Amino acid sequence: MRVIAIDGPAASGKSSVSRRLAKRLGFVYVNSGTMYRAITWEVLRQGVDTASPASVADALSGSEIVCGIRDNDESFIRINSEIPDAALRDSRVNLHVSLVSAVPAVRELVSTRLRLLARDRDVVMEGRDIGSVIFPETPFKFYLDASPEIRRERRAAEGHSDEIEARDKMDSSRKAAPLMVAGDAMVVDTSQLTLDGVVRAILDLLRPLGVTPR
Ligand code: CDP
Ligand code: CDP
Repeated sequence: MRVIAIDGPAASGKSSVSRRLAKRLGFVYVNSGTMYRAITWEVLRQGVDTASPASVADALSGSEIVCGIRDNDESFIRINSEIPDAALRDSRVNLHVSLVSAVPAVRELVSTRLRLLARDRDVVMEGRDIGSVIFPETPFKFYLDASPEIRRERRAAEGHSDEIEARDKMDSSRKAAPLMVAGDAMVVDTSQLTLDGVVRAILDLLRPLGVTPR
């Protein structure tokens, strides 16, 4: 099935844009960051030292983790029958998520689920490594960017405590599936664009590739 990969650093606009794009195209929207955040939330709930990859992997081996698609055509993750939601934007999760998502066992777990979600449906999937590692063969690959100042302002406007530059640095420098611009990705600078402007720019790039709004 078709996969539209949307990668980029924090507050580049991935979630807002991917959700709107998926609606326009009639595709399912998959937010992979939510999965890493939910796993981080669970690891913190268990009181595990997030700096110890072995302890993080251990904590997960006893948890039941289910990923799927809700009736509204958006992805969900359920851990031990709970769907963490509001807690995923907590500053504690923001602080620890880059450490937890660098653990190979965590990446393997999430990657397998992401590939399964796209097996029998068209998806817009956002994250850090969707175009580079999860679906390197998809021809529909975008990298959203914006200046660090603008991204910081956007997060502040949302009222979240989030050290996005520290997170971006960790995400870009880790060994496993670092944040990077895939060689064949189409880069869209969202700094001066509205959300609808970004969606329009992506749709304009998709049209010649045969992907059109329904
Ligand atoms: O919304 P924001 O860009 O701030 O973050 P997110 O997409 O919710 O992702 C939270 C964290 O999960 C990132 O900082 C990465 O550490 C991790 N992540 C990842 O490693 N790989 C992905 N495909 C998506 C997220
Ligand atoms: O998912 P990611 O962290 O990349 O970004 P987001 O959560 O979609 O966007 C962060 C904030 O910036 C949201 O409040 C968006 O409404 C806003 N934004 C914007 O105002 N203009 C854009 N071109 C992109 C995002």
